[in-house]
Amino acid sequence: MKPFNRREFLKRSAVVAAGTLPLSLVEVAFGKNNAQNFTFAYISDSHITHIKGKEFVRNWDRGLMRAVAETNLLDPKPDFVFYGGDIAQLGKPEEIDHGLEILSGLSGKTHYVMGEHDYYNDLGDYWQKQLGADHYSFDHKGVHFIVLNSILTYEKWMYQKWDKGMDRMKQMARLDNPHGQPFMVGDAQRAWLKKDLAKIDKDTPIVVFSHSPLQKIYKGWNFWTEDAEQVQALLQDFNKVSVLYGHVHQIQYNQIGNISFNSAMATAWPWPYPKAYTQVASYMPKLTVEMNRADPFFERDATGWQFINMDTGNADLHYLLPDNANRVVAFDKQAGHPADTQFQDVSKRIPPQSHY
Ligand SMILES: [Fe+2]
Ligand SMILES: [Fe+2]
Repeated sequence: MKPFNRREFLKRSAVVAAGTLPLSLVEVAFGKNNAQNFTFAYISDSHITHIKGKEFVRNWDRGLMRAVAETNLLDPKPDFVFYGGDIAQLGKPEEIDHGLEILSGLSGKTHYVMGEHDYYNDLGDYWQKQLGADHYSFDHKGVHFIVLNSILTYEKWMYQKWDKGMDRMKQMARLDNPHGQPFMVGDAQRAWLKKDLAKIDKDTPIVVFSHSPLQKIYKGWNFWTEDAEQVQALLQDFNKVSVLYGHVHQIQYNQIGNISFNSAMATAWPWPYPKAYTQVASYMPKLTVEMNRADPFFERDATGWQFINMDTGNADLHYLLPDNANRVVAFDKQAGHPADTQFQDVSKRIPPQSHY
């Protein structure tokens, strides 16, 4: 397949829409002479919110609809689509159904990972009934893809006596959740992962999809996976590992040993950056770059999409924030980790104009 560069992609995208493209396009390439290069699209965090009857919060619907429409118009056509979790806001069957109905408009195969907003109402029953296993792996053109359910927590807490599943959901469906619990992959899935990886050659590029970051960023908002180090240890012998995650609704990147981490933007809304980032030197935030500050009076401000180029097996993310200055977080070979190509300058922020 002809290498697919950002300028070409943007040219094609410009035909598609004059505004936000709420999806990611990931290119996986193995060098000029390899016919195996391919792309896939990545959509995340739609938070479809049910009001009553057939009424849903319109803005979140719209973000997902745009992502689907624009994914279908991509040329070259992505080999598959990955959905990064949080289809629903409160895990109601109506929300999952409505989200899947919109996503059913995608042509081609879609893979899914579960988000906490899909899970804690009924512990994933409805999601799994509609979509199948919550962790699995597949191989595609020389890359081993792994999907993990990273939003589980202590069974004792999950199965304690709740009056309603929705009470449990509401503990988890917020940023500050003093009565919630930290997310985790858990023993059973880690044992499965170890077995799954045992048959994979160490030079095979690995892409892991999770919903929460498989690293510890900020516990107060559950930008955190409790057993992250144990998952990372299982991946440490592979030469190229990329972890792509949703959940945080903001631009983040990091490098831990051989593992590159990159987040995707949401199709729903952006989260701000917690002040505590600057207070915890040992956590990822010193590598985190702030996206341009969202305008709280414009509900779609600072949502966006990212073009991800994995030409070298590492992920370079081009974030397009239509009402803000664009950002590039690219893998810096010399430094050995992703880096922002320019420091954010708030003065360059473009004020919101017409949005629809
Ligand atoms: Fe989310
Ligand atoms: Fe989430």
